Amino acid sequence: MTSATHAVTAVAHPNIALAKYWGKLDGDGNVPAVPSLSVTLEGMATSTTVAFDDSLAHDELVLNGALQPADGRAALRAAALLDRVRSSASVSAHARIVSNNDFPTASGLASSASGFAALALAAVRAAGLDWPATRVADLARRSSASAARSIFSGFVELEGGRDASGVARQVAPADALDFRVLVCVTTEAAKATSSTEGMKQTQASSPYYAAWVENAQRIHRAMREALLAGDFVRVGELAERSALAMHACALAAGVVYVRGATLDALAAVQSMRKAGMAVFATIDAGPHLKCLVRTSELDATRDALARIDGVLRVLETRPGGGARVVESMPKERSA
Ligand code: DP6
Repeated sequence: MTSATHAVTAVAHPNIALAKYWGKLDGDGNVPAVPSLSVTLEGMATSTTVAFDDSLAHDELVLNGALQPADGRAALRAAALLDRVRSSASVSAHARIVSNNDFPTASGLASSASGFAALALAAVRAAGLDWPATRVADLARRSSASAARSIFSGFVELEGGRDASGVARQVAPADALDFRVLVCVTTEAAKATSSTEGMKQTQASSPYYAAWVENAQRIHRAMREALLAGDFVRVGELAERSALAMHACALAAGVVYVRGATLDALAAVQSMRKAGMAVFATIDAGPHLKCLVRTSELDATRDALARIDGVLRVLETRPGGGARVVESMPKERSA
């Protein structure tokens, strides 16, 4: 039974993990096997409008202007999130979802985190649910775990590991550290192996998976402490270690995200560091390297990275805000 519907628009931003999530617990809650800590970024956004509508025969998803096939992966993942909202809100109507990224999809910044964060918030509000952010994050996590972190601003952690239930929360606000991120875009092509697939393969066959899980917990704890102490250098060191451990573990299972240009950029970051600069690298499930840097070394670092063969362009971003509703339009409907 559905009555009136609202068209609600929510905006959310991508995040990058400084202490990475890689691997899941058994069960259907999509709870990470390790705790993670990320930074939500400003300057790029996904904007998503959801409207439940009794006249629709099925959910509709329009992504960056293109209507997605109802049986395609994107539409099915969105519909699964809507099903959870419908069952909590006793709504039966299908919904129209219109979602746009204002950053290029191949920019190297995961759009699934901002996408599912914006969708979760818009869907919850459109269904009339007044859930707190933690509950919206729980919903987003079930679709894509990193999306739970994009609900919050600044530096955010997501619980993971044995006995964890996958709760996300802010650890420190966006201005807690003098912190900038330079994204080295190394290809315009979409990645070949999704994070979900890559994790599955890693868990199934990496000889280093147990060591990764154990090490990731220690890195997360140390990262949290360094962040709260305002220690940029320690946060950067730990971030690079987390990324390299994740990729070493995945590589051993045949899951390869790095390319030649990624490794050239990593070598450049390490040699800048040898020359005395406080710059650090992180790499997600794709070939783009992200460089962590303080404002004072931003220009010199950007220039050095832009000169590397295979780095197509360098995007600049910084810590930013969480998901929020930007528009809510009540619609009159006849019974
Ligand atoms: C390397 O959150 O995309 O970016 O939960 O299966 O959708 P699913 O995976 P996803 O994985 C993100 C992996 C990562 C590290 C991180 O963001 O913590």
